[in-house]
Amino acid sequence: MIPDGDAVLVAEGIGHVYYSDRGAVEALRDVTCRVRRGEFVCLVGPSGCGKSTLLRILAGLMPPTSGHAYLDGEPITGPQRRIGVVFQNANLMPWRTVYDNLALPLELAGVPCRERERRVSDAIRLVGLAGFEDSYPAELSGGMAQRVAIGRALIYEPEVLLLDEPFGALDALTREEMAQELLRIWAAQRTTVLMVTHSIQEAIFLGDRVLMMSPRPGTISREFVVPFPRPRSLDMVHSAEFGMLAADVRSVIGRV
Ligand SMILES: Nc1ncnc2c1ncn2[C@@H]1O[C@H](COP(=O)(O)OP(=O)(O)OP(=O)(O)O)[C@@H](O)[C@H]1O
Ligand SMILES: [Mg+2]
Repeated sequence: MIPDGDAVLVAEGIGHVYYSDRGAVEALRDVTCRVRRGEFVCLVGPSGCGKSTLLRILAGLMPPTSGHAYLDGEPITGPQRRIGVVFQNANLMPWRTVYDNLALPLELAGVPCRERERRVSDAIRLVGLAGFEDSYPAELSGGMAQRVAIGRALIYEPEVLLLDEPFGALDALTREEMAQELLRIWAAQRTTVLMVTHSIQEAIFLGDRVLMMSPRPGTISREFVVPFPRPRSLDMVHSAEFGMLAADVRSVIGRV
């Protein structure tokens, strides 16, 4: 691996082929990218280009067919606590309360009761769910359920948070609110984020950089550096500079 002191998450020449009865599907080809410590990077690209595949590989949920993934210079060979993952659907245990859903990974890891309570309380405060500890998932809105999923991913204070269209199932207003929440959490936790989104606006509002993937077999085709200062507020979305960058990204997606 090429040394890069700043890079915490690295994909190097990653390729992935799915094999099934209907033949082989090449999902990824030679994907190389780096995410620096503390960075917020967004990944956009056409449907089916392999974004979720790349995230699953980086999360250690499956090995790539070729190439390598590294966390802090160490090969990623399986799921690990230093990487938190949030998917499009919250996937909460319906028979467990908010509190118990957040406590579950800690229970499974045998974390002592006192420590568990502290971490769950911290997570509940961080994701803004104080007062809903005893609610069941069916009693939560979509945004609240996603907050629980984010809280659960943060429960081990991971170095890296991988998010795969975490707000995809939410309405536009809740989505905006959750994007701002995520920025607040990211700033508070000083974590490193790689997030897949299909919204160009969201990618620019949130990201330090936007990586664009080509159609399948997906590869990183372009990188956009987002020049806007932080902290960011939603007013920024209406500025001419924001509009120009969004148009630029959109035109490239249209061409690839
Ligand atoms: N388990 C699987 N078995 C076979 N093929 C798969 C599997 N998962 C994904 N694929 C194929 O790999 C390609 C990439 O899929 P992937 O889900 O990574 O795309 P994506 O960029 O996340 O798409 P979307 O934006 O729609 O979520 C697609 O052609 C898909 O059909
Ligand atoms: Mg996907």
